[in-house]
Amino acid sequence: MVDDDPDVASHRDVDSRYGTIVADTPAMASLIALIKRAADSEATVLLLGESGTGKELFARFIHQWSKRIENPFVVINCVALTETLLENELFGHEKGAFTGADTQQKGKVELADNGTLFLDEIGDMAPDLQAKLLRLLQDREFHRVGGTRLVQVNIRVIAATNCDLSKAVREGKFREDLFHRLNVLSFSIPPLRDRPDEIPHLADLFLRRYTKEMGKPGMRLTEAALGAMYRYRWPGNVRELENAVARAVVLSTDCEIGPEYLRLSRDQEEEPQEREASDLSYHEAMEHYRYYLIEQALKRARGNQTKAAEALGLQRSYLARVLKQKRTEAQKNDQ
Ligand SMILES: Nc1ncnc2c1ncn2[C@@H]1O[C@H](COP(=O)(O)OP(=O)(O)OP(=O)(O)O)[C@@H](O)[C@H]1O
Ligand SMILES: [Mg+2]
Repeated sequence: MVDDDPDVASHRDVDSRYGTIVADTPAMASLIALIKRAADSEATVLLLGESGTGKELFARFIHQWSKRIENPFVVINCVALTETLLENELFGHEKGAFTGADTQQKGKVELADNGTLFLDEIGDMAPDLQAKLLRLLQDREFHRVGGTRLVQVNIRVIAATNCDLSKAVREGKFREDLFHRLNVLSFSIPPLRDRPDEIPHLADLFLRRYTKEMGKPGMRLTEAALGAMYRYRWPGNVRELENAVARAVVLSTDCEIGPEYLRLSRDQEEEPQEREASDLSYHEAMEHYRYYLIEQALKRARGNQTKAAEALGLQRSYLARVLKQKRTEAQKNDQ
């Protein structure tokens, strides 16, 4: 585990959720070594990997190992907002730029001055903003919305996506020049199913984290629970494992956590016909089936939401909304 390294420990002053990295397989250990070397440079880094593989964790790790450690690490989620709002969030605005802009406001690019700007879900950025971002990356200067004066910044950029950016370039959805600007040093974080040896270490980390958080000391996973974890394909990768452990800690009334508390097979294996369809109303059954189709598509797309959405002919944002809704419902049911 990397947190045993005293250097990492002394640098661990960010959100504790992102404080510890498990890297117990040779592939992950060499990835960490490479990423550490990249951290030291000022080069732009592109992090690729399925949803939940740890892209944000690694982005923070790079910042912690860079010379910019004392300065801000600023996250921008490129998919969360409409184009206009995202531009405002990125670049800020001048007084009077639009109705309600009573004062000048700095954007996140400016807030990240001398630090690191983390552009999450970069593959989902709208075309107009891609052009503005390219200009920022080339010249390290930009205009606030409604402004004429150029503002200069000293930022290090890290971008992440679970999309296939080269394919997006071929399809004309992502600017090629921007892709080359971002793709200076790129790292692919492997899906969890390709590094099963890390499952027990990650499970142990999350077990310690959540038993402490929830005041339930002394809990442990049974052999059967670990076996189920090994067999499962983890389409949501490490985040899904973390959630499964957190849920089990909440639900288990026993110190021994058995596989039934992880609730894995139902999500990944069970067919909808096997469920008690007769107990469901028409709308409930349709709801159920809608989620099932998305789940199966995600499984085929190895957890890649963009690919799953494409295969189903859906907008990725819609698919993400259904998954989020389902997760919120599951959390409510668990409480
Ligand atoms: N190797 C690891 N060691 C410890 N924790 C990890 C590791 N990889 C991921 N995690 C944890 O898993 C969770 C998900 O990681 P993170 O948010 O970085 O993934 P992501 O790739 O950004 O996901 P998404 O694409 O869905 O945004 C976080 O709580 C993170 O701390
Ligand atoms: Mg992320």
